This record gives sequence, C-alpha cells and structure tokens, in this order.
Amino acid sequence: MRSVIDVLDLSVEEIDELIETAEDIIADPDKYAHVCDRKKLATLFFEPSTRTRMSFEAAMYELGGHVISMSEASSSSAAKGESVADTVKTVSNYVDIIAMRHPKEGAALVAANNASIPVINAGDGGHCHPTQTLADLLTIHREKKHFDNLTIGFCGDLKFGRTVHSLCGAMARYPGSKFVLISPEELKLPSYVKRNVLDPAGIQYTQTTDLEDSMENLDILYMTRVQRERFFNEEDYLRLKDRYILTAEKMKKAPESMIVMHPLPRVNEISVAVDDDPRACYFKQVLNGKYMRMALIMKLLKEAGRL
Ligand code: NCD
Repeated sequence: MRSVIDVLDLSVEEIDELIETAEDIIADPDKYAHVCDRKKLATLFFEPSTRTRMSFEAAMYELGGHVISMSEASSSSAAKGESVADTVKTVSNYVDIIAMRHPKEGAALVAANNASIPVINAGDGGHCHPTQTLADLLTIHREKKHFDNLTIGFCGDLKFGRTVHSLCGAMARYPGSKFVLISPEELKLPSYVKRNVLDPAGIQYTQTTDLEDSMENLDILYMTRVQRERFFNEEDYLRLKDRYILTAEKMKKAPESMIVMHPLPRVNEISVAVDDDPRACYFKQVLNGKYMRMALIMKLLKEAGRL
C-alpha cells in the first residue's frame, strides 16, 4: 500500500505530475468536484494544527468526498493508552485514506506499516512534513517558474523544523540548488540531514548566524518559527525565540526578486508590516497547500484502487 511519509517517497517526476494536477485544479475546479464522491478521509491529529488539518479537510470536500476528524488526542482512545498501530488498524475500516500528525518522529511510518489504506504524514515530531513541502514546491514553481539553480536561505529553527528538513530534501534533487543555513548555534540543521540529504547530492551550503548579511544573495528566504514544543527547557526557548525578526526595514536589503516563505504559524519572526510586501508569499503557500493535497489524495486513492 502506497503511503507518503517523506517527500522523498515521491520522485521528481511524480512531483511534477502533482504540480500539473494542482495547476489544472486551479484552472478548472469544477472538473474535480465529484472525483472523490462517497470516499472518506480521516484526519488523525495528535498535535495542534490549523492549516494542515483544515486544508486536508477542505481538499477532500472540494473533491466531493467526506471527512471524519480526530482533532484532539485527548478525546480519542489514545488517551486510554491505545497504540498508533491499533488506532490506524481501526480507522482503516472506516475510511479510504488517512492524514496523520503525531508528536513522535517515526509515528507516521508505524501508521503506514499497520494501515490497510494509504497514510499521509501530516508531520511527525521534528522529522518530516511532506505535504507542507508540496505546498512550498507549488509556491516556488508559481513564483519562480523553475526549480534549478536557486539559492535558498533557511532561517530560524533548523534543528526541530520539520518543514525545513523536508524542503531541503526536495530541493537537493534539483541541479544547482544552494542553501544558506541561518540559525543560532543551538538550532543548526541536524547532522543526519546533512549526511543523508545534502552531502550525497553534493549540495553547496554555508552556515551562518547572520540573517541580514545573507539576504542579498538569496532567491528564496524561508523563515521558520522556533519550535517551542520540542524544547526540553523553556529558558532556552525564551532566549532563542526572537533571535531573527524579519522587518520591512530589513527587506530593503533583499533583492527585488527574492520571495519570502514561511510554513506558518508565525509568532514574531516576520513583522506584520512585511505582509504587504509583494515578495511575501506565506499566505499563497496556504492556498497552494490545499491544491497539492487534493492532487495527492487523488493520486494515492487511484494507486490504491479506490478511485
Ligand atoms: C508547520 C509544522 O507543523 O511543522 N506548520 C504547518 O504545518 N504549516 C510549522 C510550524 O509549526 O512551525
């Protein structure tokens, strides 16, 4: 059974096809309004979410399907001690496809190994977030028109930021990608991402603590929130949370063609004044995420023989 746990579970060609489908949905949404008639999606969210869960749900409704939702672990049998494996074995009886978010790294893989239907990882701890990356890729495709030879600055919590890990993996497959990794010492990109993703692809990257000086050479600035829920110690979080704040003043130093992305939610790391800058793309990412989730749901249901 085909599931998507990591964005690298999808080939570059498959990502191109998903983008093509998403573009077609944008051009003619009515064509897709009944594709998933009578099909059901379960959203199992053991961790907070606004965009990811709601966009999965909106995606399924726009395909004509139905949604059953578990939005709080505390109201499910997880609170009684049920394992992820047993939960997905159960839910597999009710629906055609599952989107799951869980605070533990690897939980999505456990779910996929135990489900009899496709599982989409909607975020597993500080590990991966493949559908955010699909949203990011459609945004890059629409704004930049190509994926090759782009220099991307990742800024903020590169240690715990699962969206960063997934986007690094996806962009490392395109020729000429260059990364500028901007973070405090304590929140540097994990060595396993460098070893497994950047080094084998021969990606050129630099590491720095300085945002302002890095901006002039970037095609994309990908800002992230410091992931409070993954810290062991609140004091460390408080010390690091406001290290990088992108302001309208700082944007004056950025190239005219540089786009600003952020998976959201934002806390303080982008001031609200930047929202009016035409280079700010983070709310476009939100909408693009829904289209890519529609494309992915259709693809996995087709491959599972359920469409
Ligand atoms: C991200 C996540 O959950 O990893 N949010 C999202 O899904 N758009 C980023 C974050 O929480 O900081």
